[in-house]
Amino acid sequence: MANSLFQKHIISIPELTRSELELIVETAGKLKAEPNPELLKNKVVACCFFEPSTRTRLSFETAIQRLGGTVIGFDNAGNTSLAKKGETLVDSVQVISSYVDAFVMRHPQEGAARLASEFSHGVPIVNGGDGANQHPTQTLLDLYSIFETQGRLDNLNIAFVGDLKYGRTVHSLTQALSKFNKINFFFISPEILAMPDYICEELDQAGINYSVHATMEEVIPELDVLYMTRVQKERLDESEYVHMKAAYILTASMLADARDNLKVLHPLPRIDEITVDVDKTKHAYYFQQAENGVYAREALLALVLNEQL
Ligand code: CP
Repeated sequence: MANSLFQKHIISIPELTRSELELIVETAGKLKAEPNPELLKNKVVACCFFEPSTRTRLSFETAIQRLGGTVIGFDNAGNTSLAKKGETLVDSVQVISSYVDAFVMRHPQEGAARLASEFSHGVPIVNGGDGANQHPTQTLLDLYSIFETQGRLDNLNIAFVGDLKYGRTVHSLTQALSKFNKINFFFISPEILAMPDYICEELDQAGINYSVHATMEEVIPELDVLYMTRVQKERLDESEYVHMKAAYILTASMLADARDNLKVLHPLPRIDEITVDVDKTKHAYYFQQAENGVYAREALLALVLNEQL
């Protein structure tokens, strides 16, 4: 069967089908079990980060090197001609994409990855996060981590906690899980950081269950996945941030009535929304989740750059 991800831009989760998501998850599992240093041989991939990153950039770079490819790029756009000489993003994209086989980018502006895809002359653009909009490759590793720990992507109770307004990872993951069956979403956030209306409207239109709660404690016993997020300091003003940052803090004692299979996920970095005593519980999975970023990104790049694996 043709690989529909071959040469595809990866900009937002709604543009990926359920079967494409399942193929990436399945491929990530295969590459975790059996690394393949040939899949990106002779391929050059740009990783250009116009916004700070630890996990996304380094796991992409690790993935590319483990698959036998070569990385070019930057982790700080401050030293580029865009920042120093006034070059436009569009011109930068046209030039960088002429050097490479695929182009991973993170940018603070919503829509930057899509704009890049219109000027990359067919070179696949992979969105490493665009403002508060989408973070599709985080979603791929989240899906892989959920499948790895729960054995399924259907029939799940999942709570999202924290900054649901600016947390692009929860937007992307909600849209991805909406493609699966029998998903119940529980949303827990300060009112001013609630899930955006457009996401709730998508759920309403698709007839998918979601509910809004004031506390984590009232839903923890029902959950398979508790997805914590940090309040996005960089997208709030200082006074809003000070009020919001301690709104929801998960401690180990709050997990006393959790199901055995409950896993706590977090895209990281964490600030203080998960206390370190949670790390030692059987429910903590956020560091394994971060490691899975390498396998999910290996799978994605292998499928985007190889018509057949
Ligand atoms: N989860 C995530 O995107 O982390 P970084 O910002 O460190 O890449």
